[in-house]
Amino acid sequence: MAIETTLVLVKPDGVRRGLVGEVLRRFEAKGLQVVGLKMLTMSDDLAAKHYAAHVEKPFYPDLKAFMTGGPLVAAALRGENAIAHVRNLMGATNPANAAPGSVRGDFCTEITENAVHGSDSPEAARGELALWFAKGEIQG
Ligand code: RTP
Ligand code: MG
Repeated sequence: MAIETTLVLVKPDGVRRGLVGEVLRRFEAKGLQVVGLKMLTMSDDLAAKHYAAHVEKPFYPDLKAFMTGGPLVAAALRGENAIAHVRNLMGATNPANAAPGSVRGDFCTEITENAVHGSDSPEAARGELALWFAKGEIQG
């Protein structure tokens, strides 16, 4: 048994397009539990911390502009192997390669505005949850 808690973001395009419920529904239907939830607009500082691995990459300016450009929804999801299940349900980073049935495969057409984020490892999940949620904001 590996009960994990992971960070999911419904990115600003997903919020703008009214996909918050649809995206969270898919994770809940899989069997993952929402244990933290909030809406906020990402600051430049939070973007630099959350995407520390990407700040030097050529696509970072576009990514930052997009991610700080409108409200998003941050959720903490918990369950057996939650990290891998979320990543599978999200689909490949580039929607052109994302399988039908995945969030990105079903709803997205281009790589920057790809609707959803999920932590990609237990270390990333721990770090990202600490960035986005105060201790008392996650249940259990
Ligand atoms: P995420 O971190 O959002 O869950 O996505 P991911 O692991 O599938 O992809 P990652 O490589 O971590 O990239 C983070 C986000 O940056 C944007 N991106 N743009 N233009 C590009 O080449 C490019 N590559 C990545 C996407 O929004 C991607 O989700
Ligand atoms: Mg990533």
